[in-house]
Amino acid sequence: MNDSGCSMSGESCPIGGRIIQLKSVDSTNDYAWNLALEGAKHGLVVVADQQTGGRGRLGRSWLSPPGMNLAFSLVLRPSLPPQDIPPLSLVAAVALFSCLETYIPRLSIKWPNDLYCGDRKLAGILSEMKLKGRETDFVIVGIGVNVNTMVDDWPLELQSTAISMRQAVDKIFALRELFQQFLTSFQSWYEYYLSHGFHGSVQQVLEKNSYLFGKQVTIAINGRTIQGRAGNVDEYGRLLVYDRREVCWPVVAGEATMMEMGDPEKRGDDNDSGG
Ligand code: BTN
Repeated sequence: MNDSGCSMSGESCPIGGRIIQLKSVDSTNDYAWNLALEGAKHGLVVVADQQTGGRGRLGRSWLSPPGMNLAFSLVLRPSLPPQDIPPLSLVAAVALFSCLETYIPRLSIKWPNDLYCGDRKLAGILSEMKLKGRETDFVIVGIGVNVNTMVDDWPLELQSTAISMRQAVDKIFALRELFQQFLTSFQSWYEYYLSHGFHGSVQQVLEKNSYLFGKQVTIAINGRTIQGRAGNVDEYGRLLVYDRREVCWPVVAGEATMMEMGDPEKRGDDNDSGG
């Protein structure tokens, strides 16, 4: 991996045009956030062999033991209004899905930010945005993929809910190659999203490979709870949830908390299915 700077400006810097590789860090999201505050350019990627304070959504922790998994964060400076930022997590999920689907069977995307293998979590995405006035200043997209961890590497409470690529197919993966493949994949999906928006290919990949489709879900939105059957994702990246009267509730990723049977979110665990 390299640490070369990108001399281009704005979004013309390729994703991964500059990569900072760290042995150990509390959280690559926090590290990337601080660099972005100091003016880091679009496309910078921070990757770490180990995180000591990795974070998941909803204040949970994300485990990243040394040298086993992928944990990295992208600095993005999209010329998009804040309301178009939440779907970027899904764009990242689609990019990760297209990169991993050739290796991993029964892979699906759990709206809004997880990859599942069967019923177990393989990867998670944590996107965080900073505004400048009413405009988007930058977005940090943090990605954790359980690559080479084995069952004993998980704490007991995660052993039945988390899975790694190695556990899924009994093979050890080269982290560097996977990482580069993801960056290439993300670059093209990101460009696609900027020029075409969410509908079209991004929406199609989500529809075809949705973990939640047809399942009963409970979603908390701004202090209110909606229960119903998960449908497809619409052209804005919103999950369509149908209540018992078949009334459709479009749910925006950035505002919702997913809860469902068997989901740690429902049980109130503070560890995430990271590895
Ligand atoms: C989730 O599933 O809740 C999101 C998990 C995101 C974990 C990644 S690992 C790299 C980056 N740094 C962090 O502290 N979190 C994200």
